[in-house]
Amino acid sequence: MPEPLVDRFARVHRDLRISLTDRCSLRCTYCMPEQGNEWLARQSIVTVDEIVEVATVAAAAGVTTFRLTGGEPLLRTDIVDIVRRLSALRAPTGPVQIAMTTNGIRLPEVLPDLVAAGLKRLNISLDTIDRDRFARLTRRDRLDDVLDGVRAARDSGLRPLKINAVAMRGVNDDELADLVAFAVANDAEMRFIEQMPLDAGHTWDRSTMVTREEILEALSQRWELTPVPGRGGAPAEQWRLDGGPHVVGVIASVTAPFCGACDRLRLTADGQLRNCLFSNDEYDLLPVLRSAEPEAGRAFEIERVLRNCVAGKRAGHAIDDPGFLQPARGMNAIGG
Ligand code: GTP
Ligand code: 5AD
Ligand code: SF4
Repeated sequence: MPEPLVDRFARVHRDLRISLTDRCSLRCTYCMPEQGNEWLARQSIVTVDEIVEVATVAAAAGVTTFRLTGGEPLLRTDIVDIVRRLSALRAPTGPVQIAMTTNGIRLPEVLPDLVAAGLKRLNISLDTIDRDRFARLTRRDRLDDVLDGVRAARDSGLRPLKINAVAMRGVNDDELADLVAFAVANDAEMRFIEQMPLDAGHTWDRSTMVTREEILEALSQRWELTPVPGRGGAPAEQWRLDGGPHVVGVIASVTAPFCGACDRLRLTADGQLRNCLFSNDEYDLLPVLRSAEPEAGRAFEIERVLRNCVAGKRAGHAIDDPGFLQPARGMNAIGG
């Protein structure tokens, strides 16, 4: 049995986030410019066979969760096939779990097939439930489509269902409690995210960022918040609302980083392994995946690149270091 993927800081890697495309049906202002980015070349996008090859090696090395991201993962026409084939993989500890983070727009159409294919968990990104704000923030008037997606997710029975919102000053910071109430009504966990310096326009400013403290202060006006213990490697801290069944989460990557417990690796849609959202180092798998080697030889090489990537991981994101430089690729290309 291969050794698990342990880095220099004794962190064991059990989660691979796979970005399936850099394209998206929305244009969230904090993520992409209006005209979109310069898209990845079609021929560099990893195929379903290539994704499965990488994931098979990762699973054998102890990766148990594969989270499909984008851009918008549901834009891949082969999404059901991807989920079906990844779901069949096994790690030494047992079956793997397939999760997805989506903007929700195509869910009503594809969710039944995704569930049948083995999808186990769903996170939906939704920053506002105000129609005008949504249209301004995402530059697309598609709130109704996303709300239909949330309903489809609620009805699918996939749990826990999570809704992610980046908290933004002057954009949605007066709406946090309403978002929680909306999530509760849909049997979902609302999670607020501190904005990270990953925006397309490089306009991120720590002094205007809505912090974990401010989010908790706003919510405690309406609910009694009790911390939920036992977070493990998860990015979100959780609080119970009024001692009831529902929880709210906060992902405070900036003011309370969770890098010390990070168990994640990333695969970009063009076949680059990354050990951190914030590192510019990429470990190219495309030449391995597209070499003329027999499959066993490719698997050996994939494992070598994977272990190299893990060995190169730094202690943390270093956002606070004086020489910090925002990563060259935007969130839509790294995969969130
Ligand atoms: P769960 O497994 O359901 O907890 O999902 P998740 O929170 O790991 O994934 P999701 O795709 O919903 O991401 C929510 C937010 O967490 C996004 O803003 C991500 O960019 C952020 N996030 C996910 N992984 C990392 C990470 O390794 N480092 C940092 N700093 N942020 C991350
Ligand atoms: N900071 C924090 N979260 C972000 N996301 C996109 N850009 C940023 C950013 N700069 C979120 C999306 C989605 C998740 C995958 O990442 O809103 O919920
Ligand atoms: Fe699309 Fe997500 Fe970027 Fe919004 S944040 S444009 S939903 S990839």
